[in-house]
Amino acid sequence: MHQGRMDALETVFPKVEVPRSLLTEKASLTPSDIFGVPVEKLHFEIGFGAGEHLHYIMRENPTHHFIGAEPYMNGMSAFIKGLPTPTPENIRVHADDALMVLNSLKDASVDFLYILNPDPWPKSRHHKRRIVSEQNLAVYARVLKTGGMMIQTTDVDELAEWMLTKTINCPYFEWTAERPEDWKTAPNGWMSTRYENKGKEAGRSQTYLIYHRNDIVVPKGQGVPIPPPKGKPKIY
Ligand SMILES: C[S@@+](CC[C@H](N)C(=O)[O-])C[C@H]1O[C@@H](n2cnc3c(N)ncnc32)[C@H](O)[C@@H]1O
Repeated sequence: MHQGRMDALETVFPKVEVPRSLLTEKASLTPSDIFGVPVEKLHFEIGFGAGEHLHYIMRENPTHHFIGAEPYMNGMSAFIKGLPTPTPENIRVHADDALMVLNSLKDASVDFLYILNPDPWPKSRHHKRRIVSEQNLAVYARVLKTGGMMIQTTDVDELAEWMLTKTINCPYFEWTAERPEDWKTAPNGWMSTRYENKGKEAGRSQTYLIYHRNDIVVPKGQGVPIPPPKGKPKIY
């Protein structure tokens, strides 16, 4: 890792990290607890990579607040290094599993949720690791406000089909597409990441899946972490 990025991790990261002490995974944390000020609009990006999209939406919406989760430290350092000086007050990051933050957030905290080019986990035995799953969709639904938006993208056709099928079968989301152009072309004002552009150069087409959170309430006990099984974990 370049020195500049390491310096950014050392000096800027502590200022923008969601404090670990707040992450109780008890669905009780408000965005204002995190930012220390009232939060009107909250954007949450899961797996932001090097953070190009997150930088872009921050520039476009300077009065909104943003949380990004990315466990890959090279990506995290690139994002942190690219932040303007002085460090904006409206951004927080988490260098680990996004679900630790989402499970801690209170119901109806998030306005925009982005899942952009998630890891495809192509082998069937790894499908359970996919970030769009029935169980995780209940979490996303719980934290999104009614009318909030979830955006999923991918250049892997089989994953696009998987994410779409899982999400339209989930009672809490309405797919906004009316015609093929709606999922085959980027929404207005979209910013393509390097990852997305590389896929296009290699001849892969990007799918854009946009949903609105409807007003169906997630029943208590869903969209909250499942307690780990008791006893010795069975690994193999
Ligand atoms: C294929 S990359 C895409 C990066 C970026 N969204 C883009 O479009 O350029 C997927 C990213 O998701 C991150 N990721 C995977 N599982 C995650 C999780 N549970 N929470 C947060 N990020 C995760 C990975 O570290 C990786 O950087």
